[in-house]
Amino acid sequence: MTVTESGPLADSATPAPAFPPGFVWGAATAAYQIEGAAAEDGRTPSIWDTFSHTPGRTAAGDTGDVAVDHYHRFREDVRLMAELGLTSYRFSISWPRVQPTGRGPAVQRGLDFYRALTDELLAHGITPLATLYHWDLPQHLEDAGGWPARDTAYRFADYAALAAEALGDRIATWTTLNEPWCSAFLGYGSGVHAPGRTDPGDALRAAHHLNLGHGLAVGALRAALPGTAQLAVSLNLHQVRPLSQDPADLDAARRIDAVGNRVFTGPMLDGAYPADLLADTARLVDWDTLVRPGDLAEISRPIDLLGINYYTPTVVSSAAHADDRHRHDGHGASEHSPWPGADQVAFHLAPGELTAMGWPIDPTGLTDLLLAVHRAHPGLPMLVTENGAAFEDRVGPDGTVDDRDRIAYLHGHLAALARAVELGADVRGYYLWSLLDNFEWAYGYAKRFGAVHVDYRTLARTPKASAHWYAQVIRTGTLPVPN
Ligand code: FCB
Repeated sequence: MTVTESGPLADSATPAPAFPPGFVWGAATAAYQIEGAAAEDGRTPSIWDTFSHTPGRTAAGDTGDVAVDHYHRFREDVRLMAELGLTSYRFSISWPRVQPTGRGPAVQRGLDFYRALTDELLAHGITPLATLYHWDLPQHLEDAGGWPARDTAYRFADYAALAAEALGDRIATWTTLNEPWCSAFLGYGSGVHAPGRTDPGDALRAAHHLNLGHGLAVGALRAALPGTAQLAVSLNLHQVRPLSQDPADLDAARRIDAVGNRVFTGPMLDGAYPADLLADTARLVDWDTLVRPGDLAEISRPIDLLGINYYTPTVVSSAAHADDRHRHDGHGASEHSPWPGADQVAFHLAPGELTAMGWPIDPTGLTDLLLAVHRAHPGLPMLVTENGAAFEDRVGPDGTVDDRDRIAYLHGHLAALARAVELGADVRGYYLWSLLDNFEWAYGYAKRFGAVHVDYRTLARTPKASAHWYAQVIRTGTLPVPN
């Protein structure tokens, strides 16, 4: 989404507007980042197991083998959620736990874990929101070609059907994919994510097959679930801002909007790939053979909600206006670009303080993004399915974590969300990333996003000040001013 104008944010001293009735207050996690139990109960490796066990791929060689052991501690974790007052919890289902080779029947022990987890949630009055794919492709399917291979889309739809048949009696809201941009372009383009491949054509092929997998999965879910089920996809839409109004910078913004956003929203929501994206990437992939007759109708099956993950805006210019390139795109260091067809684009830090990820803090990006999506797709309700920040948390002598910087981040972004709602955006809920400190992909355990601190030696959980603050927000429906 390229929107440059932004409205003033509510002054933090004035009481924030109340959130809409029935607004969903959640927190989010993902299977590989928290579950651990990597080789238990029939689970086989995913691409993230292979990648994290490959020397040099993750910080300090960290893996998700144990993670925060949520697989064994989920009852304690649900109790924490209940104490926070969450009305919903977004988690992901581990594909290799449920269908280890990515083919054939489901493993009951794998499904039992999600049955037990959702029972526990429902018993505490917390509505489950399941993500089917948060990046843990069964390694068997990667060995057969991974997402650049068309068959993977069909395998994904079969897995979606298995999950829906087994869990559809207790999960009413489903999101198909989490951030397919990262799966395609970090996984197969820059290679900073699993499976670590670096071919721009493969990255585009992966994007199309993720789109197709999404559409086929929506069809499979509709067939298996009650008519009341709510289906969604979670996209990390880039709030793209040109560095200047110079035509070269505007063109840079257009290219990043195409390969960062419209490569997914085009086919999913409008039933077509944008013509400019096809032109920008024509050298890299033969779209005419990649996209087969019927694919776009499949991909554009209607969804009920759009999930939006937002952390920071994306400022771009023509490479002629900068001396570094994708260094500041916030997506890790690689000599290979995750932006096919946008070689002449440079990335810049937006103004503002940085989080521990080096991501500038700019809540106006969230307001602008929600309003831009609302204007482009007025009938489509949105959920913010991820938002949050990593900071260098310090554990005090009494074991508490006074994470005021995280409270300020959350306050700013919830005020920005409320502002978007005030201006007409239809936003139904907010999921804080993340419930717990966890395995932050290539950054391993070095980056902490949790509202709840985890001691990685003992795995003890301690709610940080931000967790207490968020509980107050949920209880009152207003935004207490951070001190
Ligand atoms: C998002 C991912 C999530 C987490 C946050 C910080 O891109 O969906 O798993 O890593 O970033």
